[in-house]
Amino acid sequence: MSSFPTVRMRRVRKLPQLRRMVRETSLSSDDFILPLFICHGKGVDKPIGAMPGVAQWSIDKLAEEAPKIVDEKIPAVILFGIPDTKDATGSASWRDDGIIQQALQTLKRRSPELLTMVDLCFCEYTDHGHCGVMHEGMLDNDASLENLAKQAVSLAKAGADVIAPSGMLDGMIRTLRGALDSAGFAELPLLSYAAKYASGFYGPFREAAESTPQFGDRRSHQMDPANANEALREVALDIEEGADMVMVKPAMPYLDIIRQVKDRFGLPTAAYQVSGEYSMMIAAARNGWVDEERVMFESLIGIKRAGADMILTYFARKAAKILNTRGWPY
Ligand code: PBG
Repeated sequence: MSSFPTVRMRRVRKLPQLRRMVRETSLSSDDFILPLFICHGKGVDKPIGAMPGVAQWSIDKLAEEAPKIVDEKIPAVILFGIPDTKDATGSASWRDDGIIQQALQTLKRRSPELLTMVDLCFCEYTDHGHCGVMHEGMLDNDASLENLAKQAVSLAKAGADVIAPSGMLDGMIRTLRGALDSAGFAELPLLSYAAKYASGFYGPFREAAESTPQFGDRRSHQMDPANANEALREVALDIEEGADMVMVKPAMPYLDIIRQVKDRFGLPTAAYQVSGEYSMMIAAARNGWVDEERVMFESLIGIKRAGADMILTYFARKAAKILNTRGWPY
């Protein structure tokens, strides 16, 4: 291989047109899934302190914003519900008039072009803040699965386009696939939060979704940040059980996992740039320490480059607006 001075790597970096042509990764609003927090009430647009630019919306506000999200060319949203009542099992999550069921019906009526994904979990719906039924201080896997199936079928009936279970329960995908098939939803896709780590980066989300555990933590079911092989086993099992798409979460500290999952399985792979990743970039930008737009795009292209096909990100609207007007800014 030749080297300097025959080779000068800088030659192709000099002109912006050439940089555009040799760019290996691209980012588009088609890559984004926008997370939304939906609550009861009317006219609610309640900012989340720990996530500047993100708010809880009531359903009328959602109906008002949905056409704008479509205009911004964002293909999909993922909905998180804040119920008006919580109990030990999270039963508000499978009520046919539950908050997300109502939000789905409204979206299907008002903005059918917007793909609706739903986060399937219990932590927002249980009074203890854990992701299912508790038994002697521990999450009861199999009892939680039964309830999860009820929640999935109820959301499917309300019009969900994709079900995304996030609880990291064993047998989650098999149970849901069976329940949805029996209920007549054999063609409804499952996006599994297959490799979800027990992460400190979920901090701001727990304010947004009002889902902080009242005791203990989620380390008995979410993954140890030190493990990579285990993530590959999780993904393999979910594929065997019928997952159509898989997710790695969070994104930035786990780019190696995204790459390995994509290389090994080749399935549509999503990455979740979670609340803490978003909030720390905004906070640093507000302090004048980094340029918000630059770190936003750098973090998103990094996730794409690692192998993600789609990115769940709170930056979706801001990034889409820039990409669809000025184009990729680098
Ligand atoms: C569980 C769920 C969580 C997030 C998405 N789905 C919270 C958790 O596992 O504690 C976190 C997302 C984020 O931090 O942006 N329903």
